[in-house]
Amino acid sequence: MSKQPIAKKADPSTTGHSWDGIQEFDNPMPRWWLWTFYLTIIWGIGYTIAYPAWPLITGATPGVLEQSTRADVQAEIDRFASANAPIEAKLTAANLADIKNDPELADFAMKSGKAVFQTFCAQCHGAGGGGGKGYPALVDNDWLWGGTMEDVHTTILHGIRNTTDPEARYSQMPAFGTDGLLDKTQIGDVVQYVLQLSKQPHDAAEATAGAQVFAENCVSCHGEAGTGDRAQGAPNLTDAIWLYGGDEAALTETVTKARFGVMPAWNGRLTEAQIRSAAFYVHGLGGGE
Ligand code: HEC
Ligand code: HEC
Repeated sequence: MSKQPIAKKADPSTTGHSWDGIQEFDNPMPRWWLWTFYLTIIWGIGYTIAYPAWPLITGATPGVLEQSTRADVQAEIDRFASANAPIEAKLTAANLADIKNDPELADFAMKSGKAVFQTFCAQCHGAGGGGGKGYPALVDNDWLWGGTMEDVHTTILHGIRNTTDPEARYSQMPAFGTDGLLDKTQIGDVVQYVLQLSKQPHDAAEATAGAQVFAENCVSCHGEAGTGDRAQGAPNLTDAIWLYGGDEAALTETVTKARFGVMPAWNGRLTEAQIRSAAFYVHGLGGGE
């Protein structure tokens, strides 16, 4: 058995390029590669015919299948809307105070209210309704404007001190310093009195003088005892819950410049069913009356 030398395939011709003596073979593309390449071109053309593809001035070619993810989403939304329509109608028609007595309705209102809250309210009131400076906590039973279902519903529907809803809740504390209604000493005194009211360390003599200032300037809104007035959204000053801060500096700023918390009206932006759901959710957060 003599070994035959294996015939060597002839080297393909070169492209004629040469770099520093290194030459480049002119190999043909492998068949499988070429066919895959042609297939992708055919696929690509087919795709642009079937689906939205070519940009036009105000949109794109729709494609013969007329497929549209936007329409799919809308169809999904419509499907849910029609599935929820009966219970939303029931919610809209229900007596506010009775929602909690109907387990099915209460369950729906709670879930939908939570979704509404996370979308439209959390940016101001906090994800859990815990509030922040200028934005009241909705989880406690300290209410500026009232904590019954009826009160909360009205607050959400019309908002507070906004300029868009004529029925918005409205009141305004005077800017006692800026408007020159009280001088610096009087403001200092009344601040000491508010510190006393809220059981914080204070200057007793100044607080006594401040009690007089308070009686003359503040009781019409905050009440004789400083416990507030919900009809005017005037906060209770005797508890440890502060909307704008309860230390001397914050109190001085409040009395000097006053505050003007604004909440948008949701009337017209949310449906009545959504507003009721939000009211039900907020009412259920812990402080509902
Ligand atoms: C742009 C910020 C903002 C958004 C958004 C907002 N609120 Fe308010 N909300 C406020 C402010 C500020 C106040 C307090 C106004 C004041 O000082 O009386 C308030 C007050 C309230 C009160 C009254 C609390 C009390 O103690 O009486 C309720 C209830 C309430 N918001 C619920 C909601 C709900 C529900 C939503 C979502 C649908 C919402 N808010 C969205 C800013 C906002
Ligand atoms: C016309 C009614 C009115 C009068 C008079 C008034 N207030 Fe107010 N006060 C309010 C309202 C309304 C708020 C809430 C403002 C807001 O939420 O933006 C408030 C808020 C406050 C706060 C902030 C409470 C917090 O939780 O941060 C303090 C402090 C305060 N008032 C003290 C006084 C003192 C002291 C006087 C008298 C010198 C006075 N107010 C007179 C209506 C009044």
